[in-house]
Amino acid sequence: MNKTKSKPPSTSEQFNKVYSSPISHWVWSDIRIPQELIELIKTKNPKTTLELGCGLGLFSNFVAKQGIKATGVDFSSVAIENAMRRVAENELKPEFIVGDVTNLETIKEKFDISYDVGCFHCLNEESQQKYASEVYRLLKPVGTHLIWALDLSPSEIKLSPDYIAKTFENGFHLVNSKFSRRRIIASHWYWLVRK
Ligand SMILES: C[S@@+](CC[C@H](N)C(=O)[O-])C[C@H]1O[C@@H](n2cnc3c(N)ncnc32)[C@H](O)[C@@H]1O
Repeated sequence: MNKTKSKPPSTSEQFNKVYSSPISHWVWSDIRIPQELIELIKTKNPKTTLELGCGLGLFSNFVAKQGIKATGVDFSSVAIENAMRRVAENELKPEFIVGDVTNLETIKEKFDISYDVGCFHCLNEESQQKYASEVYRLLKPVGTHLIWALDLSPSEIKLSPDYIAKTFENGFHLVNSKFSRRRIIASHWYWLVRK
């Protein structure tokens, strides 16, 4: 019997392939808006938000519907095309951008808050550092960056509050973390505040 485990997607081409199939991305896509994101929007009352790894854009759409300027970025052009199609008829809609979270130099605006549901854990260590620098550049001082990430990343990096605090230590304080069973698997929510 062949017990070879299929490797999770990591490149934009691999994610494009997954998003091109009508069902395979439902492994991670969740139609429920996380309570942690709802609370963040309620308590911080942002005028502008940035979502990293927005996929089909459900969460950015939730934010935009509240009259907030929402931007979602993902390096899968297929995901972004689908995200744009889904909101085409909406009066209030997010801006969706194809971009790599490790290099977002085309985005010049500074955001009140940013968030990421399941993108950070797709990155290797070098890319995580670039991601941390980009979030620092794009977030206003004392802005919050919220992350949901698996405790064991698809590339088998162990993520924990200590690990996240260290990765972001140059530009952020980790002010809170919470164990979660979102998507059933052990994971955490992390609240980082930009210095
Ligand atoms: C697990 S999916 C989560 C998607 C969405 N946040 C959700 O919860 O439905 C991870 C997403 O991150 C995106 N992604 C992974 N690495 C990325 C990178 N370096 N730059 C931009 N997007 C990336 C993938 O294309 C994918 O849409």
